[in-house]
Amino acid sequence: MNVNHHEQHFYFLDTMERMIDFAFTHGTSQDALEIRKLVFLEEQGFKTDWEAIDETAWCLVLYWNQKPIATASFFPEDPETFHLRRVAVLQAFRHQKVGSYLLRFAETKIKDLGGRKVICFAQLDKVDFYEKNGYQVTRDGEVTYEENVPHLRMEKIIVKSRHSEPAKNR
Ligand SMILES: CC(C)(COP(=O)(O)OP(=O)(O)OC[C@H]1O[C@@H](n2cnc3c(N)ncnc32)[C@H](O)[C@@H]1OP(=O)(O)O)[C@@H](O)C(=O)NCCC(=O)NCCS
Repeated sequence: MNVNHHEQHFYFLDTMERMIDFAFTHGTSQDALEIRKLVFLEEQGFKTDWEAIDETAWCLVLYWNQKPIATASFFPEDPETFHLRRVAVLQAFRHQKVGSYLLRFAETKIKDLGGRKVICFAQLDKVDFYEKNGYQVTRDGEVTYEENVPHLRMEKIIVKSRHSEPAKNR
């Protein structure tokens, strides 16, 4: 496991009662890159998954038996809006709600950092996964492309704006 002095470690029991350890790092960890290589480069055929933002973006990795099994990355676009990206679960761990846990823990961290809204660009065939986790397609469903793979912008409000709360005692 990658050891980083800034790592914060936690664990939870997943739906199959496995103990899953998870860690946040500021900057992309080697463990995250290993998962991303397997999923985005080898499985999905992307040429690269590295961008300059990976130097400073927050990075979340889930571990089972010290093996990195899932990752996600996020960074602030403005103080209240965080961009979630590079969400990946190893093939053998899919459809066991690991991806949903991953989003939940990323969102909790984003709230701790002061974020109120999460945006992401979902591959078209992954929209259902994000919708199941409370995300909605935005910008009238405009399709954007990364290495010719179509994506839809989606967002989730994780903390309601004070201005949108109903006024009391009026
Ligand atoms: C997308 C991904 C992260 C989902 O992870 P996961 O751990 O399998 O997701 P969950 O088990 O929490 O899924 C919850 C629900 O979302 C939906 N869902 C999950 N994967 C889906 C997919 N590939 N397509 C459509 N819906 C999906 C299902 O309804 C699922 O419930 P079910 O398994 O009971 O049917 C995983 O398939 C993955 O890493 N894919 C490759 C990388 C990738 O494409 N990342 C997203 C880039 S936008």
